Amino acid sequence: MRAYRRLLADVVVHWPRLLAAGLCAGVLAATTAGYAWLVKYWLDDALIAGNLTMLVLISLAIPAVALVKSVSSYGESYLLRHVGNSIVCVLRERLYGHLLALPVGYYATQRIGGLMSRFTNDINVIQSLVTVGFIDLMQHGLTLVVLLGYVFYLNWKLALLAVIVLPVSYILLVRVLHRLKRLSTVMQEQLAGLTAMLQESLVGLRVIKAFAKEEFAREEFRQQNARVFTAYMRLVRLMEFVPPVIEVAGALGFALVVWYGGRQVLIDKAMSPGELFSFLVACGLLYGPVKRLSTVGSQLQPVMAAADRIFAILDQPTEMQMDRGRIELTRVERGIEFERVSFRYEPDSPPALQEVSLRIGAGELVALVGSSGSGKSTIVNLIARFYEPSSGRVLLDGHDLRDVRLTALRRLIGIVSQETILFQDTVRNNIAFGRADLPLEAVIEAAKAAYAHNFITALSRGYDTVIGERGLTLSGGERQRLAIARAFLINPPILILDEATSALDYESEAIVQQALNDLIKGRTTLVVAHRLSTVQQADRILVLEGGRIVEEGAHEPLLRQNGVYRRLYDRQFRDDESESLLGAAPAEESSRHG
Ligand SMILES: Nc1ncnc2c1ncn2[C@@H]1O[C@H](COP(=O)(O)OP(=O)(O)OP(=O)(O)O)[C@@H](O)[C@H]1O
Ligand SMILES: [Mg+2]
Repeated sequence: MRAYRRLLADVVVHWPRLLAAGLCAGVLAATTAGYAWLVKYWLDDALIAGNLTMLVLISLAIPAVALVKSVSSYGESYLLRHVGNSIVCVLRERLYGHLLALPVGYYATQRIGGLMSRFTNDINVIQSLVTVGFIDLMQHGLTLVVLLGYVFYLNWKLALLAVIVLPVSYILLVRVLHRLKRLSTVMQEQLAGLTAMLQESLVGLRVIKAFAKEEFAREEFRQQNARVFTAYMRLVRLMEFVPPVIEVAGALGFALVVWYGGRQVLIDKAMSPGELFSFLVACGLLYGPVKRLSTVGSQLQPVMAAADRIFAILDQPTEMQMDRGRIELTRVERGIEFERVSFRYEPDSPPALQEVSLRIGAGELVALVGSSGSGKSTIVNLIARFYEPSSGRVLLDGHDLRDVRLTALRRLIGIVSQETILFQDTVRNNIAFGRADLPLEAVIEAAKAAYAHNFITALSRGYDTVIGERGLTLSGGERQRLAIARAFLINPPILILDEATSALDYESEAIVQQALNDLIKGRTTLVVAHRLSTVQQADRILVLEGGRIVEEGAHEPLLRQNGVYRRLYDRQFRDDESESLLGAAPAEESSRHG
């Protein structure tokens, strides 16, 4: 019911068009009843009375009525489709904006394809109603009212007999409609599962192929597809149940009218044959709207289910809504500080960070090392305020991050991470990233600083080359250099490099490292790296293990401590040696991490 009211709120803002459509529908209803009305005069005044002029007049009236009816029908459909389309358009925009504004944590619990399904499948369902359903509702609703008025005006007793079956069948249908909504929800969920599967397979296509798992993927898809099929058929069985019920009920009503109306004409002489015939025609015309309206009733259920699913997302609080921060920081003077920060991703999951305290002074370069899962990326997530600490505080220039306005905070931070996301757009736009007004010279300068200019100019269309989906046409190192160029352009006072070079071979790493060294200058920088060679130049190295900082210091002293850092370093050294022996073949994932 709530979804229904919320959708309605979007509908009523279009009241001028709705009003105009209502007028058209009114004309349409009147002309439909006009047919039945003409029948009475045709039979009584023209045929039975033998009036030829009347016959001609009525014959002329029929196409005239049809013309008016068609024009108003066109007008109504056009107007209502316009309204329906606008509503869906606004809904889509709102949903997209909301998805952008949701916190990162939300996506950890959602399948991307499932969310995409809300955009396609659920919105389509809503669109089908707000266009077709609206038209039916308004047009047939009004026609129904007018025709009912007409038959009651002709003979109310007979009319009562004709419609007595309607409430009975409606009571039957209400129970059906209830179940329909539940089945629709199941159906949309299964469809979302299918979309999610499709999206994940397409993104991971190379993995599927590399492991020769096409058969497995196809089987999984087949099963999910079968579930969609079953859910749909269950829905259909119930949905298609509605028109036959109406049909039988209608026939019963009709039979009553034929019998009792016939007696009224033959025995009681209360009606003329023309009136009875006109009554029957009106009843026949009534049948269409009643049937359509009952279908709209059952169509409404999937729509409400879809609307519920969309509103469920829209009701998720966005980052901005949750942001209580009011401080507008524009630069960094003292740096970042963690005060006994503990953090869990989920209330019942083990802590990812435990009582971590650290300082990164303004302009300082601090490196973070530690084995896989030790919490390095978590620290990055907390600095960017993708998540908030479970206890303790993260401070920027002495302000609790929660008190800093989120947009202001994010503007201060540039993150270059291992996975570079490029968009299907030109190289230039990928570097400028949302700032189309930026002159090409600035983009080129940034690209040069990131050692990317040379490979960009070697591309087929230089800076105007469109990068394929997910950056397929560029190598890992090239993509990372684009990401670095991006960071150069933003020119953020705080820079976070989360394994920015870990995907690279030594040669590209050397180039990217050079670019990074230039980027780091004069900024407050946190470097996360597996490759210890990249962290040796740091002012300070923090060693993380099991969510705690276990060692801290410069490279040499840390080595002499013979602790965790030494162990990481020795392991790394062995790996590097074996890697170079194998011609820089990628080491096993686990050994590189461990
Ligand atoms: N979104 C998440 N939800 C729940 N747990 C998470 C999430 N992200 C990370 N974790 C868990 O938190 C712990 C720390 O993860 P984190 O990503 O910080 O490790 P890391 O040091 O960056 O590791 P790596 O070197 O492999 O990137 C791990 O045990 C991980 O399983
Ligand atoms: Mg990580």
